[in-house]
Amino acid sequence: MTEFMKFPENFAWGTATAAYQIEGAAHEDGRKDSIWDVFARTPGKVANADNGDVTDDHYHRWKEDVALMKELGYTAYRFSLAWPRIIPDGRGKVNPAGIDFYNRLIDELLKVEIHPIVTLYHWDLPAALPDGWLNRETSFAFAEFCQVAVRAFGDRVKDWITINEPFCPSFLGYAYGRHAPGIQDLGKALLAAHHLLLAHGLAVPVVRAACPDGRVGITLNEGPFYPATRSVENLDAARHADGEFNRWFLDPLYGRHYPLDMLQDYVKAGALETIEPKFILAGDMQQIAVPTDFLALNYYTRSVIDTVKPAGNFPNNISTLANPAETHTEMGWEIFPFGLYETICRAYFAYKPPEIIITENGASYSDAPDASGRVSDIRRIAYLQSHIEAVGQAIRAGVPVTGYYVWSLMDNFEWAFGYAQRFGLIYVDYKTQKRHPKDSAFWYGQVARKNGLEMKAAG
Ligand code: FCB
Repeated sequence: MTEFMKFPENFAWGTATAAYQIEGAAHEDGRKDSIWDVFARTPGKVANADNGDVTDDHYHRWKEDVALMKELGYTAYRFSLAWPRIIPDGRGKVNPAGIDFYNRLIDELLKVEIHPIVTLYHWDLPAALPDGWLNRETSFAFAEFCQVAVRAFGDRVKDWITINEPFCPSFLGYAYGRHAPGIQDLGKALLAAHHLLLAHGLAVPVVRAACPDGRVGITLNEGPFYPATRSVENLDAARHADGEFNRWFLDPLYGRHYPLDMLQDYVKAGALETIEPKFILAGDMQQIAVPTDFLALNYYTRSVIDTVKPAGNFPNNISTLANPAETHTEMGWEIFPFGLYETICRAYFAYKPPEIIITENGASYSDAPDASGRVSDIRRIAYLQSHIEAVGQAIRAGVPVTGYYVWSLMDNFEWAFGYAQRFGLIYVDYKTQKRHPKDSAFWYGQVARKNGLEMKAAG
């Protein structure tokens, strides 16, 4: 007998996207370059030399995309605002065409009763800002941008996310060189991470002042790190990787300063030698730890660390187990739903945010339309089923999780992987811009309509 896993009333069943990944219209209506436009133009940085110039052309097809969401039965939608569309130079003059675009989108969502949750920064930093996140001034520029955006849309949008996954624009962008701006300098990554966290801390009171009846939080990408064996080296490497990916952000956000073991590791690695080591100014840590209304988490996989066999998939000598292909998605990420349960429980019970929202979870599979236009993506359905069950189990364990957003509504520009990876519930034919909802899109609509699912895993 199967058991129906019912979710709490008013649970948000949504999908997520980000501006640079779906909008296109990169040079239209006053938008200027972001660091990702520049990065994508740099030879060798993005697979197939892909870029976000056109991508899903959502800037022109937003109405059709909202209609599809509605038809499919989703109740919420997470998207991001393109800072270079709203304040093209990063600071100063506001571009009315940018404001108009999001006004149209937000009004349409509300008209069809889809709840909007808006990310203020999903990596498309205006290229005009000098030295990007290495410059402390960028944190203040971000707070100014937030004020403009929340004043414009806060009468209708009530849920605000300051920053998406600060780990990526700091460590991936500045230490591992895999994201814009493509630098490889650990010290600079620490500086960028601090300025991203400071930007969050400065933005929270600005959002609250501009939208007093709203809610605000940050999105972190989190996941567990296991040692492959109990060797001293692997245990220590797992501690370090967890420190960099998870604790480096969770600890300061919840008032614990940066983790001491990590500071020691970074000093030992000489990271502070390339930067001014006193980059944490008086008051910064209090500002970063400003209380928020929720913690949002993005979860995809776990990592298994083996210092003897380091693999390139995740940063930091981190390898994932050499398991058979069916246990990995096409990103090479291991399918590990228990990790989502563990991640939610750890964040909640160790840090006690008032509430948790899963703002991204999903899988890359390249299933394409058959002759009839149908996309039978059973592996994505299995992935989502097992992960939604993990969320349900965390709720049963006492965690107030209030929403789940599939990454992504539709196939899109997957950063350094370009268009080679397809995470969408909706297949996009990039030549014709035709949208084909995959089987998973309809399946997920049923989950939303029933507010839960028949459990597959042993209870
Ligand atoms: C997350 C990003 C999102 C998407 C997914 C696959 O790290 O936030 O934009 O690229 O990964």
